[in-house]
Amino acid sequence: MKLSRLAENTPPSGILAISNAVKKRAGADEQLLNYTVGDFNPQLFPIPRLLEDEIIKAYRNRQTNYPATDGNEDLRVAIAAFVKKHQELCYNPSEIMIGSGGRPLLFATYHMIVDPGDTVIYPVPSWNNHFYVQLTGAIPRVIETKPENNFMPVADEIRPFIKDAVLLALCSPQNPTGTCFKTAQLKAICEMVVEENARRHKDEKKLYILYDQIYYLLQYGRQPHISPVTVCPQVQPYTIYIDAISKAFAATGVRVGWCYGPEPVISKIKTMLNHVGAWAPMAEQKAVTVLLNNDNAVVTYLNGFKEALLQRLTKIYKGILQMKMKGLPIDAIAPEASIYLSVKIELPQDMTTVLLEEAGVALLPFRVFGAAHTPDWYRLSVGTCRMEDIAPMLRGLQRALEAHMQPPQDCCAATANKTRR
Ligand SMILES: Cc1ncc(COP(=O)(O)O)c(C=O)c1O
Repeated sequence: MKLSRLAENTPPSGILAISNAVKKRAGADEQLLNYTVGDFNPQLFPIPRLLEDEIIKAYRNRQTNYPATDGNEDLRVAIAAFVKKHQELCYNPSEIMIGSGGRPLLFATYHMIVDPGDTVIYPVPSWNNHFYVQLTGAIPRVIETKPENNFMPVADEIRPFIKDAVLLALCSPQNPTGTCFKTAQLKAICEMVVEENARRHKDEKKLYILYDQIYYLLQYGRQPHISPVTVCPQVQPYTIYIDAISKAFAATGVRVGWCYGPEPVISKIKTMLNHVGAWAPMAEQKAVTVLLNNDNAVVTYLNGFKEALLQRLTKIYKGILQMKMKGLPIDAIAPEASIYLSVKIELPQDMTTVLLEEAGVALLPFRVFGAAHTPDWYRLSVGTCRMEDIAPMLRGLQRALEAHMQPPQDCCAATANKTRR
């Protein structure tokens, strides 16, 4: 059957292909540790109790009709106050749009800025930019980030592509790496964008930054979350922020997200999503309003949640460093944020299937995040990780690595010589 060009050319998700295969297998193997998902086991990580109660209450109060098309006014007011408190940024409720999670807002931001044939710059590994580029018919300029920069892009890598670009898609904390921008690194990028826009003729399209910060409340270090407008206020007219409750409140299935930025862009996003109808449900909007207005509930929840996530990430990270000390070909980046650990396994073959079959551990290779240049790196998510599973998981990992390690050349030669004698 012939369908639209869009339908024919939209590739299936590599992440979903592996996750579905793992889920199918997990059905038959209860021991399998599925660390592929960017989601949570709600038994381990429930949403805030206040949010749960308020959702139920809102349904009981018959909050079941259409929400306002750009999001309920009381929620947009609550978000403006939340942004002011957590990022020290000033946005009016009219510069905020509510959607059913981060995805429709990412989709609409791309579509309201990018025409087919326009250039979009994004780093890899990163989450789903290659799909949004495909869906808009854009020309991708892909920055292959380096482990020594914690897999975050730097200004000099972006500069060669900037002249023709209309969108620079950034994310910090980054999925899949769990790493964040440093102030100087992000400032240099933003200043470059401001300079480029000043250079453009008034009839030319500007270069916008899409800043996805959906994991920013799950940051572990002492460095506060930074974002384009905090490090470079002049970039405000060109920056669209994406955020949601999905990750910070373990609420992936509740579906409330928001974007904010310059009013002319946000108003177009509102118009487009009105036709899609990707609104957050009325009752969930009412409940999120109560949550965001309750500082104490937010802080208490985040403290407990972050501690539980960091405990897991740290335990796994330390276990990996111990294996590295023993000479095994494994390494990791110290956890900075989110639910992800970047794990390096330096063996000649892709270890995704080997680890699944021999260690019962499912990880996602960075290649499904568009990064073919880093075949040794994998994402490990702790969203479904139980503390008691970590020690057996590390033992399984160690056994699989030992089985697949090449014996050192000298040692083989020595053994062969001995046998011959
Ligand atoms: C970086 C990033 N942005 C956006 C999303 C989408 O979030 P939502 O579930 O709110 O649509 C995800 C989901 O994994 C993500 O990792």
